[in-house]
Order: sequence, then structure tokens, then C-alpha cells
Amino acid sequence: MLKQIEKHILKIEKYKADSIESIEHFRIEYLGKKGVLNDLFLAFKNIPSEEKKEFGQALNKLKIKAQEKVEILQKHFTEKKSLKNREIDLTMSAEPLPLGSRHPLSIVKNDIIEIFSRLGFTISEGPEIEDDWHNFSALNLPEEHPARDMQDTFFIQRNPDTLLRTHTSSVQVRFMENNKAPIRTISPGRVFRNEAISARAHCIFHQIEGLYIDENVSFADLKQTLLHFAQEFFGEETKIRLRPSYFPFTEPSAEVDISCNICKGKGCNICKYSGWVEILGCGMVDPNVLDNCGIDSKKYSGFAFGMGIERITMLKYQVKDLRLFFENDIRFLEQFKHA
Ligand code: DAH
Repeated sequence: MLKQIEKHILKIEKYKADSIESIEHFRIEYLGKKGVLNDLFLAFKNIPSEEKKEFGQALNKLKIKAQEKVEILQKHFTEKKSLKNREIDLTMSAEPLPLGSRHPLSIVKNDIIEIFSRLGFTISEGPEIEDDWHNFSALNLPEEHPARDMQDTFFIQRNPDTLLRTHTSSVQVRFMENNKAPIRTISPGRVFRNEAISARAHCIFHQIEGLYIDENVSFADLKQTLLHFAQEFFGEETKIRLRPSYFPFTEPSAEVDISCNICKGKGCNICKYSGWVEILGCGMVDPNVLDNCGIDSKKYSGFAFGMGIERITMLKYQVKDLRLFFENDIRFLEQFKHA
């Protein structure tokens, strides 16, 4: 009897079905009312009690095998069938491809460019690898001038006259050298400084430089232009405040604050409870700089300004960590899709 059970187990293991019907036959053969298992369970009653344990275990094993086999075969066939039945709808539209979006720095750069374009400013660019003259000397920063230390510079080892530009003011110089007054231009670009990377500073960042040269350009023109920019960019209720400052290439020089666009001047942690946040540096172009660049300082005057695009973007979108702009984490970038 035990041998008979073993044979059945082997048969079950080897069994292969070719249709749902044959699985049903197999099920009835083993598990049906008049099936093999029922017969064996009937026979089990008449077995001497000392053999019952061994026989009972073998019988249970056979039952489980048969049940499992039926289950596996049924599952296999229904899956196959459902695959076959799945109709292909050729009119269905494809899965939508995720659309990319502009980088927040590009969005802000373009917004700034647009505002100044409407005032008649053209766009100019210059090289990221600069020489000492365009980055420093022409801008009234002769060698050994202490103000060179305001910006920690990456020099190129093989040729110390070459460096990674520390500001886009170098483009003013190039533009004045190559164009006649009147001049109205803005110069967006990447700049480099040897700074430790933190939430507020990076060794690579972006600036936009502005330059306006004509006869009789005054500080009032500068102030009005910057007020117009601030109100266009941050909202018409925005106020500006000019604080006296020092830059070697402008005289007089100022730093410009806007009324905090987050707390509306009431005081918050962004404006450090002062109600004002700094956005740029500016001033009247120093006559020495005009002369260095071939523009007659007796006939012409002008103003210049420079702002950090990261800083403006952080203020506009309340981004608290500058490093996010360079990590390219899609979860960050996606938030500017509709900006
Ligand atoms: N070049 C300055 C900087 O990187 C910013 C700046 C200040 C630019 C005053 C100007 C200016 O054109 O007039 O910090």
C-alpha cells in the first residue's frame, strides 16, 4: 500500500496538463468523490493500528501534493489565458513623457534680462577664463590693491596672468573697449571664487552685470532704473534703499536693499528682522575705468551694477540653501515647472 502511494506521488510530480479540461480530469481522478484519495482513505480505516501512523503520514503527503499540483496548474493556465485575452487598443494614447522644466536660475536670469531689455539694454557676454586686466586692473584694481582680497580668486597655475573671472564686471571692460558710447548692456554669466561651499556660498555662481554710459547720466538715473527693476521683479509695492559702500570701479558706490518681499517689511528671519534685504552693488562708473577702456570720461558718465542670480532666486522663491541649485535633484527642479 505504501508503495502504491509513492507511485502516485511520482505520477503527480511528473504530470503535465495541456488544457483546463485535462486539469479538471486530473483533479477528479485524485481529489474527486470517487477519486484515488478517497479510496485510499477508505482503505486506511482497515489498516492495523500499528501501521496507521506511517500510512496516515504518507496519505497526507499525497493529498497535499495533489492539491498543490492542481492549484499551480490552474493558476498557470488562467494567467496564460488572461494574457491572450488582453486586447491591444491601437488608438490608446501612449504613456505621457515627463516634461522637463527650466532651471530656476535660468527662469530668473531670463526674467531679469526681459526687464532690462524693455529699457533698451542689450545682452553681452565675455569669457569665463579672464586675464588680470579685464578682471582687475582696468577696473581700477591695480596689482597689490587691497580690494583684490575682497574676492578670493582662482588663478591658473601655468599662467598667473590668467584666472577664472570673479565677477561679470570684466564684461563691462570688454564691452567698453569694443563699443562706442552710448552703451546700455547687461551681461549674465558664471563667476568663480575660492569659497567654502555652504548654504549661503558656492565657488561657482552666477551674476548679471549692468552698464549704462551716455552724456549726462546721473545717480538719479541709476536709482530710478534700479527702483523700476525691483518693482517689476519683486512687485510694485517694493521699496529700495541705497546704502553708501565701496567698489574700486565706481565712485560713489552703493549697495541696494529691497523691502523684504517675504514679511513685507514687518521683520522675519530672511531679512534678519530688519525689513530690508540686500540685492546688489552699484555706483557711478569711476572716470579712471572709462579712460582705461577708451571712453572719454570728460564727455561721458555712466552707472553700473552687479547682482548675484542665486541670491535673487533665493529671495524670489524662498530657497534656503544655495547648494540645491547645483544638485539637480528632480524633486527640487520640478517645483519650478510652472514658475
Ligand atoms: N562686481 C561686484 C561684485 O562682484 C558687484 C558690482 C558692484 C558690480 C558694483 C558693479 C558695481 O558693476 O557697480 O561684488
